[in-house]
Amino acid sequence: MLLLFLFSLLLAQSELVTCQIATVPSTTINSPTQTSSSASFVTNIELSVDDLWDLYVGPISTFSINTTVEPTPIPSSSLIPPPSLFYPNFPTGQQVPLRTKNESWKFPKDFWYGVAGAAYQIEGAVKAEGRGPSIWDVLTHRVTNYVSTNDTGDVADNNYYQYKEDIARIAALGLKTYSFSLSWSRILPFGSGAINELALKHYDDVIDTCLAFNIIPMVTLYHWDLPLSLQNTYGGWLNEQIISDFSTYTRIAFSRWHKKVHYWFTVNEPIVFCNFYPLPESYFKKTSIPEQQQPYVCGHNVLLAHSGAYHIGKSLNSTLSISFKNNGGYKIPLTNSTVDAEAVQRAWDFNEGWFADPIFLTGDYPSSLKPYVEKFLPPFTEEQKAQINGTSDIFAHDAYTASFYMAPDSGIEACLRNQTHELWPGCFNSTNVYANGYWNIGPAGDPGSPWLNQATDWVPAFLHYMQETWNPREGVAITEFGMSEPFEELKTNLASILIDPIRSNYYKAYLEGILIAISEGVSVVGTLAWSIYDNLEWSQGFSVKFGIQYVNLTTQERYFKASAFEYVNMFKTYQEK
Ligand SMILES: *[C@@H]1O[C@H](CO)[C@@H](O)[C@H](O)[C@H]1NC(C)=O
Ligand SMILES: *[C@@H]1O[C@H](CO)[C@@H](O)[C@H](O)[C@H]1NC(C)=O
Ligand SMILES: *[C@@H]1O[C@H](CO)[C@@H](O)[C@H](O)[C@H]1NC(C)=O
Ligand SMILES: *[C@@H]1O[C@H](CO)[C@@H](O)[C@H](O)[C@H]1NC(C)=O
Ligand SMILES: *[C@@H]1O[C@H](CO)[C@@H](O)[C@H](O)[C@H]1NC(C)=O
Ligand SMILES: *[C@@H]1O[C@H](CO)[C@@H](O)[C@H](O)[C@H]1NC(C)=O
Ligand SMILES: *[C@@H]1O[C@H](CO)[C@@H](O)[C@H](O)[C@H]1NC(C)=O
Ligand SMILES: *[C@@H]1O[C@H](CO)[C@@H](O)[C@H](O)[C@H]1NC(C)=O
Ligand SMILES: *[C@@H]1O[C@H](CO)[C@@H](O)[C@H](O)[C@H]1NC(C)=O
Repeated sequence: MLLLFLFSLLLAQSELVTCQIATVPSTTINSPTQTSSSASFVTNIELSVDDLWDLYVGPISTFSINTTVEPTPIPSSSLIPPPSLFYPNFPTGQQVPLRTKNESWKFPKDFWYGVAGAAYQIEGAVKAEGRGPSIWDVLTHRVTNYVSTNDTGDVADNNYYQYKEDIARIAALGLKTYSFSLSWSRILPFGSGAINELALKHYDDVIDTCLAFNIIPMVTLYHWDLPLSLQNTYGGWLNEQIISDFSTYTRIAFSRWHKKVHYWFTVNEPIVFCNFYPLPESYFKKTSIPEQQQPYVCGHNVLLAHSGAYHIGKSLNSTLSISFKNNGGYKIPLTNSTVDAEAVQRAWDFNEGWFADPIFLTGDYPSSLKPYVEKFLPPFTEEQKAQINGTSDIFAHDAYTASFYMAPDSGIEACLRNQTHELWPGCFNSTNVYANGYWNIGPAGDPGSPWLNQATDWVPAFLHYMQETWNPREGVAITEFGMSEPFEELKTNLASILIDPIRSNYYKAYLEGILIAISEGVSVVGTLAWSIYDNLEWSQGFSVKFGIQYVNLTTQERYFKASAFEYVNMFKTYQEK
C-alpha cells in the first residue's frame, strides 16, 4: 500500500492503532532507488481503519440513537390521506393533444413500485462497526465548498440504526419494494482485503426485515461511495485494478444474499460518478491522466467491472435479475433542423449510449464516441465485447426530466475540429427553454437542482425510445424519479412542509405517462420514487429535498408527505388485482 510521503510524516506523530476488524497487509519495502524529486518519495506504512479516519477525515458527528431500534408505532393519524388537491387533465402541455382519463389504463399485476435511497445519503453511523471512509467522507469533511451547505453524511437519516422503522413505514404506506445500496467500505473497510462481518450482519437484517414486512428488497452494489483506500492506493475508477476489486466485493454480496434478493443493480449512474473525475486536487492520489480523459477512463473500467459482476451474479444464481442503472433526461430537438437532429443523437450517444450501447447492443461504444476515445483508450477486444454485451436484464433508468438539444452556435463540424471548444468532444448544446426563447419546458424544481423541471408530457415518448432503442429483455424500469419541491427547505412549519403539491402533481402526471406507454405496448415493469425521505443530496447537502417523507434532522422523526399518498394511490387506482 503506497501512501503519500506527507501522510507518513503525519502518522509518525500519532500512535499506530491496528483495528481488530481489518488490517492492511504489509508489503515488501521497495528496493533503494535514487530520485531527484521529493514527490516521488512514498511509503507503504501500515494503517488501521481508525488511522484512515484520523488522517483523511477528522472528527465526525454522531446521533443519540446509536443502536438498532425497534420500529416506533406509526400513528394511525399519519396514515389518513391528505385533502384532495386540484389537478387539471393530463397531459397539460403543448406536445400532446388534451386527453381525459382513459379507463383502460392498467398497471400489470406484477408491476413493482417502491422507493429508493443510497447508503451515504441516508445511513449515517459512518464510523460504526468498522466502516472505512469513502471518498464522500473526504469530500464532505475536507474539501472546502464541495458541499454548498457544509453538511456531511455523518448522521444523515440515521438509517443504519432506524432501518426497521423505515421499512415498517414503507410497508404501512402499501409500497412493494425498497431499493437501497450497500456501503462497500462497510463490507471491506479498505475496499479490498479483510471482510467486516458486522457489516454483513447489518445488511442481513435489513434484507430480513424487508422480507418480514413483505417488501421486495432491491440491492445496488455501488452508489458513488468509493472506499477511500482504493482511491488513494491506485486512483479508484481511473485504474483497471478496480475491476478485480469490484469483482471480489460483488462476489461477497451475491454469495451472501442471492437466495434472498432477486433484483440487483451493479452501478448507479456512472455518467455522473465518472464525471466527478477529476476529483479535487490534493485530497486524493494524484494522476497523470489528462482531465478531459478521466471520465472516459473511468467509464471504460466501469463497463468491465459491471459486466464482470453481472457474470459473477448469474454464475451463482442464473435466475437473478441483474441490471445496470443508467440516467438522463429525454432529449428533444430544439428545432426541426437536420443539425439539431444530429445534436440530439450525439447527446444520446455521449450520455445514455456511452454505457447502454455497449451493454445492450454491441459490446462497444457508439460510433460518434469512438473517434475521441480511441485516441487514448485501448479498443475492447472481441472477448471483452462479448463479456460486456447483454449484461443488463432490465433497462433501469433514472429518468427525471427532459431538455431541448441543439447544435453549438458554431455548428457541429467546427466544434469537432476544435479541441478547445467548450462543448468538445460531445459538440451538442442544450437548454430548458423552448425555441421561442420565452417559456420553460415545464415548472421548475428547487433552484438547487436547476437541471430539473416537470416535463412529464414526454414520458410516453421517452419510454418508447428506451424500449425501441435498447430492447431490454426484462423491460424498462424507472429506477429513480422525483421532484425537488421548490424552496421546501425554507419552510419551518411541519404542516406546511407536508403538503407538497408540485411533487404530488409530478408523480401523478409521470405515472399517467407510464400508463399511456404501457397501453401502447411498452413493457414498463416497475418504478422507484426518489426518495424514501429527504436525505443528503450530495453537493447540495440537505438543502434540496426529494423525499416523499420529511425527516426532522434534530429528532430523526419521520413524516409522510402528501406525495407519498399520491404515489401509492395511482397503483391503488390502476393496478390489476
Ligand atoms: C450512544 O449514545 C448515548 C446517548 O444516547 C451516549 O451516551 C453514548 O456515548 C453513545 N455511544 C457511542 C458509542 O457513541
Ligand atoms: C462552509 O465552510 C466554509 C469554510 O469553513 C465557509 O467559508 C462557508 O461560509 C461555509 N458555508 C456555509 C453555507 O456555512
Ligand atoms: C436463486 O434466487 C432465487 C431468488 O431470486 C431463489 O429463490 C433461489 O433459491 C436461488 N437459487 C439458488 C440455486 O440458490
Ligand atoms: C417540427 O415538425 C413537426 C411536424 O411537422 C411539428 O409538429 C413541430 O411543431 C415542429 N417543431 C418545431 C420546434 O418546429
Ligand atoms: C449483443 O447482444 C444482443 C442480445 O443481447 C444481440 O442481439 C446482438 O447481436 C449482440 N451484438 C453483438 C455485436 O454481438
Ligand atoms: C449553448 O446554448 C446556450 C443557450 O441557448 C447559449 O447561450 C450558448 O451560447 C450556447 N453555447 C454554444 C457554445 O453554442
Ligand atoms: C475554438 O474554440 C474556442 C473556444 O470557444 C474559440 O475561442 C476558438 O476561436 C475556436 N477556434 C477555432 C479555430 O474555431
Ligand atoms: C424538529 O424538531 C425540533 C426539536 O423537537 C423542533 O423544535 C422543530 O420544530 C421540529 N421541526 C419541525 C419542522 O417540525
Ligand atoms: C384508451 O386506451 C386504449 C388502450 O391503450 C386505446 O386503444 C384507446 O384508443 C384509448 N382511448 C382514448 C380515448 O385515448
